[in-house]
Amino acid sequence: MIITYKDDKLPENEIKIVNHVKDYIIPLYEDLDLAHGSLHIKETINNSIIYAGLVKEEINTTLCFVAAAYHDIGLLHERKFHEYTSAQIFLNDIVAQTHLTEYEMKIIADAIADHRSHNFGKRRSIYGQILADADHTTDPETSVRRMWFYRSEWKMNDEQKIQDVIEYAQKLIGWVDAPLSRWELNLPEQIVIRDKLREVLLDPVKIRDIINHIET
Ligand SMILES: [Fe+2]
Ligand SMILES: [Fe+2]
Repeated sequence: MIITYKDDKLPENEIKIVNHVKDYIIPLYEDLDLAHGSLHIKETINNSIIYAGLVKEEINTTLCFVAAAYHDIGLLHERKFHEYTSAQIFLNDIVAQTHLTEYEMKIIADAIADHRSHNFGKRRSIYGQILADADHTTDPETSVRRMWFYRSEWKMNDEQKIQDVIEYAQKLIGWVDAPLSRWELNLPEQIVIRDKLREVLLDPVKIRDIINHIET
């Protein structure tokens, strides 16, 4: 997956932090499994940039980019409290401290610490709300790929895994159709995005086709 963030017209300090994230932070996710690694982070970044352009508030997309890039970095150490570990890793980052203001650091750290679902309705800023929604996989292809990768080590043959993904995809529909319970921004555009995801999750032929095109 390609990151769609256009960074050619940014102020100098923002270019430096974006380059740092691209060169040193995103590659760290390669150490996580394929379902939770850089594929998820790139989608979260792309979703954040899309949502930032849809909300009525004026958003600094570089802050969204950075928050999305660091939000799961704590998973490299532990899972249970990874939102706080991720926020702390970000706050300790000397390059981030050099190129961002104290206020920007706080906005990003709060958004990272608030990203998990138990914080629904309690996100401290619009940046936290954007990150929380962006964290949900909504790209149909990414959704199927993540389900497939998640099963990569399972003791099943490929056909059984495909059937399991198709079955699990049906269960995800309940979540896709629960707009108010899981979404912070609740934008009209998110309904369109959800519809596209639903269409694929309900279609075994499309799911099979995506899996068949995954490069190994
Ligand atoms: Fe997370
Ligand atoms: Fe995440």
